[in-house]
Amino acid sequence: MTNLNWSELPFGYVKTNANMRAYFKDGSWSEPEASESEFMNIHMAATALHYGQQAFEGMKAYRGKDGKIRIFRWDENWKRMENSAHGIMMEPVPKALFKQMIVEAIKRNEEFVPPYDTGAALYIRPLLFGSGPQVGVKPASEYTFVVFVTPVGPYFKEGFNPVKIAIVRDTDRAAPLGTGTLKVGGNYAASLRGVDRVHKAGYGAPLYLDAKEKVYIDEIGAANFFGIKGNKYITPKSSSILPSITNKSLMQLAEHLGLEVERRPVPVTELAEFDEVGACGTAAIIAPIGEIKDLDTDETFTYCPDGKPGKVSKKLYETLLAIQFGDQDDPFGWVEVLDI
Ligand code: PLP
Ligand code: COI
Repeated sequence: MTNLNWSELPFGYVKTNANMRAYFKDGSWSEPEASESEFMNIHMAATALHYGQQAFEGMKAYRGKDGKIRIFRWDENWKRMENSAHGIMMEPVPKALFKQMIVEAIKRNEEFVPPYDTGAALYIRPLLFGSGPQVGVKPASEYTFVVFVTPVGPYFKEGFNPVKIAIVRDTDRAAPLGTGTLKVGGNYAASLRGVDRVHKAGYGAPLYLDAKEKVYIDEIGAANFFGIKGNKYITPKSSSILPSITNKSLMQLAEHLGLEVERRPVPVTELAEFDEVGACGTAAIIAPIGEIKDLDTDETFTYCPDGKPGKVSKKLYETLLAIQFGDQDDPFGWVEVLDI
């Protein structure tokens, strides 16, 4: 077993043994190959570098109490990457190849899957990009698909403790008919100024509003938004947010636990009415929100008055993690135990 300080791991990059690579050229995908290098030799005119033909995914492998490694809804990540590929005219990765490369990347780095009960997991990062040269604005004719892994701890330094976020209106991460529903690098580039602005003001992440009217809540940095009001789990419906697999799972779980789920446009004014609010995504699973500051009006919305996550968020968080780590039955068939 690799000697890492598992419980102190940040959400960051750690060099592992190997990564997997496959290449699309002359109309077909190569056999996947393993590489021990952290570097790639890339054509200087590759479309990924110039025109942002690039998409990625983020998923986790969890080690259970029984020592076994579990992956969570990998087929949803594959589907989303296929959608991202179509959205920016890249060659999609066949489902079987995606699965094979993920499993192989985990296998080759088995010692980097954190032990149970350390709060850490193995983050899996599939990456697809246009590697063929083009000078005109056109899709590449060659693509590279890479899967690397890295052991990670909590996304927010607070872990499962309330974080403070801030509303930004001077940058948008995505346009209503743009690429917000795709997991493509350009959206993250567009989000960096907003992230920087709120960090400098002392907040953990930006809350983006809809780009057109600035009336509705879109998402929180790199996570979806949800609010709890009485017995309701409410989450935005928008044409510019990334469909989060964590949010999709939480909606199903919420219903299973007897909550009513509403997916609809959520006006920013409704922030005053929520009992609990949270950010959800693979990295944090749920980050409870303790405060939302409107940097333009100075208005502040506060939650978690006792400094602790709300009880509905806590229940959802604990239940989802218990399913992911195999501590609890998985009535939805979300988890696959790997034969490693
Ligand atoms: N929204 C954005 C912009 C993201 O980058 C992510 C992370 O993948 C999410 C939401 C959460 O999605 P998921 O739960 O599938 O990780
Ligand atoms: C997530 O997994 O929720 C993320 O947003 C990951 C981020 C590093 C892109």
